[in-house]
Amino acid sequence: MLKIAAIVGSLRKDSFNKRLAQAIGKLAAGKMEFKFVEIGDLPLFNQDLEASPPASVLRLRQDIKAADGILFMTPEHNRSISAALKNAIDWGSRPYGQSSWVGKPAATGGISPGGVGTAVAQAHLRSIVSGHLDMPMLGQPELFVQWREGMIAEDGSIANDDTRKFLQGFTDRFEKWVTSHAAAKE
Ligand code: FNR
Repeated sequence: MLKIAAIVGSLRKDSFNKRLAQAIGKLAAGKMEFKFVEIGDLPLFNQDLEASPPASVLRLRQDIKAADGILFMTPEHNRSISAALKNAIDWGSRPYGQSSWVGKPAATGGISPGGVGTAVAQAHLRSIVSGHLDMPMLGQPELFVQWREGMIAEDGSIANDDTRKFLQGFTDRFEKWVTSHAAAKE
């Protein structure tokens, strides 16, 4: 069973992005085990804390290192990723030369009530992740989702057949992506 670290960039209790990640986790049942990584208790990144970081940062590093793959689910905040997500990315990338992210296969997705469905935020995320962090990022399918009331229930189930099929397709491609990188490492 592949271990996936799901990193949701919204700290909101009823986050649509959390629901979307939960829906994908449910569609992946039996193949990928999702761990939802806590990022809400990380301090704001401060290089002075790097040498002896708080427990929340050590836990983040451990969660990333233990994962076979990473799913970033980002809200779009002012046409970019959320500050909470960027903060977690920055913590995981340090100390210099010891980034926890390097080589982890990843995918990105996001959901917003707006028509562009986080496409602009995800373009920023891709440039950080596949470029600077050196993580192989799944190209297709792109997961830009426009939230509609009742789309994903609290338990992660999906009302609409076409939406479920699309999300299943994304989930299956992500699983193959992580599997192929895990095999390449052996
Ligand atoms: C937003 N929202 C938003 N939506 C969007 O499509 N493009 C954007 O640039 C922004 N900008 C933005 C800035 C800030 C500070 C907030 C709080 C919100 C709306 C956003 O998509 C909406 O609040 C979602 O519900 C956020 O995702 P979660 O929290 O439901 O996962």
